[in-house]
Amino acid sequence: MSAELKVEHLRKVFSVGRPAIDDVSFRATAGEIVVLLGPSGCGKTTTLRCVAGLETPTSGEIAIGREAVSVPARGVLVPPRLRNIGMVFQSYAVWPHMTVRQNVTYPLRQRRVPRAEAGRKVDEVLALVGLSEYAERPVVSLSGGQMQRVALARSLVYQPQLLLLDEPLSNLDAKLRLRLRDDLRRIIKQTGVTALYVTHDQSEAVVLGDRIGVMRDGKLLQIAPPNEIYNRPADMFVANFTGASNALPGRLLARNGEFGTVETGGGNRLTAWLPPGVAAGSEVNVALRPENIRLGVQAAAEPNHFTARVTGQRYQGTQTIYELATLGGRLEALELGTNVRYPVGSDVEILLPPELCWAYSAQEAAPME
Ligand SMILES: Nc1ncnc2c1ncn2[C@@H]1O[C@H](COP(=O)(O)OP(=O)(O)O)[C@@H](O)[C@H]1O
Ligand SMILES: [Mg+2]
Repeated sequence: MSAELKVEHLRKVFSVGRPAIDDVSFRATAGEIVVLLGPSGCGKTTTLRCVAGLETPTSGEIAIGREAVSVPARGVLVPPRLRNIGMVFQSYAVWPHMTVRQNVTYPLRQRRVPRAEAGRKVDEVLALVGLSEYAERPVVSLSGGQMQRVALARSLVYQPQLLLLDEPLSNLDAKLRLRLRDDLRRIIKQTGVTALYVTHDQSEAVVLGDRIGVMRDGKLLQIAPPNEIYNRPADMFVANFTGASNALPGRLLARNGEFGTVETGGGNRLTAWLPPGVAAGSEVNVALRPENIRLGVQAAAEPNHFTARVTGQRYQGTQTIYELATLGGRLEALELGTNVRYPVGSDVEILLPPELCWAYSAQEAAPME
């Protein structure tokens, strides 16, 4: 009943400006949760609206299950109500004058589902989203998080073949957001529905997605399971957007398979992973995550073992961020724990695991912010 979603060479050009979606292709297999992640304006909502049929693509193809639903070249554009899709938006799209039960029953009444069957389905879905006890309450008496659960229940109750969610947590306060984030994956997985979820929040993407697609300027840069996005980012933008905030400039001396030797400032040599296409002799930026730098490691024989000077520190209670001067540049390193171990002005041994140092061509666009 849940269907595969297939998006191929999707383009959307509005009357002004650059393309909002620029040749985006991806699939979500039946029952999979795919998250599109990227900064504001990168084309997430437009992609979702094209899938829903609320927007007419300029070109490309969208298929849900076996049915081609948007194929502009052939004049195919199946209207939204015939796509059997559930949708949840940022704003709580609930009817304020109704109770929780009335809200969730509404789509079944529209579909002329018999009363007894409707009652059973509503009870089931309210239990699933944790609102059984609130069924007879006016929806306006609920918290924001609960209203979003009503919106979710209402879009799941008729068992759509595809669920679309557009930043459904972004209007909630921090605590409710975390609670619903952790619940959402379980709820979606229990129904088995295929889901396309868009957000600008990397932590939501990681918790929710079976795969994450990172977007920028209308383009899909990489789509992969969360651990691959975090451990093998395809380019500097993906690395940076998902939290690899360090970038050390250098020059690639030699490539040796997937790895290479990078000369950084001060004449140091660093072993780093190389994406395809970075040629020896070229200028690179080596990206790495603050949490992947190991501090105080006595392992002089290991590759990428260096000494750094602590130039600053930010104690955050359960972790400390150290500012380090090393390799002719600056690095930030994060260490978990409630103790500050290295005072400002001291020297510390550092180990930069080669597989977690990624050398991207410096010709790529500069990291954001
Ligand atoms: N109806 C519209 N008319 C013109 N431009 C639009 C319209 N909707 C979106 N855009 C533009 O398309 C780009 C992508 O927008 P959007 O899909 O809303 O991004 P996101 O959801 O990732 O923040 C932006 O540059 C936005 O200004
Ligand atoms: Mg949006």
